[in-house]
Amino acid sequence: MKIVIANTSHFKYAQLICDTIGESAKVRGTGIAKRTPEYIQKKLENGNAVIALDGDKFAGFCYIEVWGHEKFVANSGLIVHPDYRNQGLAKKIKKAVFDLSKEKFPDAKIFGITTGLAVMKINYELGYKPVTFSELTDDPEFWKGCQTCKNFDILTRTERKMCLCTGMLHDPKATSKKEKIQEPEKVNSKAFQRLKKIKEQLFLKKKQK
Ligand SMILES: CC(C)(COP(=O)(O)OP(=O)(O)OC[C@H]1O[C@@H](n2cnc3c(N)ncnc32)[C@H](O)[C@@H]1OP(=O)(O)O)[C@@H](O)C(=O)NCCC(=O)NCCS
Repeated sequence: MKIVIANTSHFKYAQLICDTIGESAKVRGTGIAKRTPEYIQKKLENGNAVIALDGDKFAGFCYIEVWGHEKFVANSGLIVHPDYRNQGLAKKIKKAVFDLSKEKFPDAKIFGITTGLAVMKINYELGYKPVTFSELTDDPEFWKGCQTCKNFDILTRTERKMCLCTGMLHDPKATSKKEKIQEPEKVNSKAFQRLKKIKEQLFLKKKQK
């Protein structure tokens, strides 16, 4: 398995990446921002993505988005092909895209929003902290990406203050203030699952009324 910074030679995987993201969202039954192959190809072209390949076979992907005039970057679209899950591949891809983000945008805060426990776990270990949406970018283009998510009405209803996703942020300044490297923190899975259930009950019940 090789995990590399993607480029134009990986254009042929763009459609498969979109299909895998779309199908996984259907299976999970959760909301997801839709991506087009053209959008993915832009990421490949700009060297703002990481791809995992098993020989020629697509195994996983994640890309960087830049927001608020490079004040923020997001590591988005994380996907591991079903054949390669539960082997630690997402962790490796996320670490690679995190390192690439720090190299290309050293002053940017790195953030993500997610409903997934796996992503929460990985982000925690990379030093992200859970934050309210007010700590994230206010770049309207970022939030526009949520329009294709089935929970978008919740985000609108709460005036972008909260949704089913949890916001997570890595602030390079906060990290460099600490002189010693700390043990990676572990997410409290039970607490996260409970919080997610509470949010779903609150928001989705209202929606059905
Ligand atoms: C989520 C996803 C990327 C995980 O990929 P993966 O390669 O199987 O993940 P890893 O093997 O690196 O696992 C990382 C951690 O998450 C945990 N994990 C993996 N899948 C999980 C799941 N479905 N639910 C809860 N925890 C999970 C692993 O046990 C591991 O935890 P540990 O550090 O305590 O051992 C993959 O299942 C996927 O592509 N899903 C569909 C798309 C998606 O949900 N993307 C995220 C959008 S926010």
